[in-house]
Amino acid sequence: MYEYIKKLMFLLDPENAHNLAEFSLKNGYKICPFAFSLYAKKHFVTDEALHQEIEGIKFLNPLGLAAGFDKNATMIKPLTALGFGHIEYGTLTPKPQEGNPKPRLFRYPEYNSIQNAMGFNNDGADKIASRVRKLYPYTVPLGANIGKNKTTPSENALDDYFILLDKFKELCDYFVINISSPNTKGLRDLQNEEFIHSLFKTGVTITDKPIFLKLAPDMTTQNAINLALAAKESGAKGIIATNTTIDYSLLPDAKDFGGISGEVLKEKSYNFFKEIAKELYGKITLISVGGIDSSEEAYKRIKAGASLVQIYTSFIFNGPSGLEEINKGLIKLLKNDGFSHISEAVGADLRGKD
Ligand SMILES: Cc1cc2nc3c(=O)[nH]c(=O)nc-3n(C[C@H](O)[C@H](O)[C@H](O)COP(=O)(O)O)c2cc1C
Repeated sequence: MYEYIKKLMFLLDPENAHNLAEFSLKNGYKICPFAFSLYAKKHFVTDEALHQEIEGIKFLNPLGLAAGFDKNATMIKPLTALGFGHIEYGTLTPKPQEGNPKPRLFRYPEYNSIQNAMGFNNDGADKIASRVRKLYPYTVPLGANIGKNKTTPSENALDDYFILLDKFKELCDYFVINISSPNTKGLRDLQNEEFIHSLFKTGVTITDKPIFLKLAPDMTTQNAINLALAAKESGAKGIIATNTTIDYSLLPDAKDFGGISGEVLKEKSYNFFKEIAKELYGKITLISVGGIDSSEEAYKRIKAGASLVQIYTSFIFNGPSGLEEINKGLIKLLKNDGFSHISEAVGADLRGKD
């Protein structure tokens, strides 16, 4: 069924296809919520072997939707019904903004990859907050992924994050600080210890929700480890690795702007995650994202130290059935390794090693 929908969707320009998907999910859910409930009843994987409590948040399964798909939190209910164990909405900014000029989204079906230069196009904090407020109580944990406005100079960036931490503290289960998108000029320069200390030290006084930091895969792993340790020291509860890459050599015919995601990011993202997990596993919650497209790949990340995994690009290429496949596959892989619960597999590759 999804193969048929995908064929039609892929005839459209990628951003129009995304908008059509958003329209269909949003309105489909409004018109016929029962169809979504029925789907969820059949396909949402809630096996106890996958239940986890992380930073005080209960997760029914470890597979979440990465940020950027539901920037405006318009599809949370239908996306939940499709089987995601958590959903990260955003990146949102204090003021609404248009994002970068179009075209800014490109698909590479032969590589199961995407390149995007969206630039935090979003409806702004006020509109999104009033939308999320209506969803309470949430069915699955929600993350609020927050960023700075393009027009906010770097020296005032902290204010944007503080405004959003305050505004969304009752509207999510966890926060993600996005300073790793390649599509807002100067944003990645904020990935420095001084900024991270200032951000988290004050951030944790604004909200008691756990705050995670999302990292780009294009820095050295030592740099990433130092940043993660700085974040932890100042109160961060988790690290999400990785955002998209600006290594354009990974994708034949890549544009020379924007960030690349999907299959061609898989190895880079895994290696980056594995290296930082060697240092950080057991010290801070770790979440892996980047090129995950199967239960085997998700399991690999879990054994490398990830408590949760997220997907974006493989959801576009494989559709909703991929979620059930990954979660059910995980249960099998756990059993094959003699584990009765996912917590036994998290970091299994690292345990017992110094
Ligand atoms: C079109 C598009 C938009 C994205 N927007 C955001 C965003 O707003 N904030 C963010 O933190 N990550 C964003 N991402 C990055 C994803 O959350 C994810 O980190 C990255 O795509 C790697 O995962 P994947 O290979 O499963 O797609 C975006 C990715 C894509 C493809």
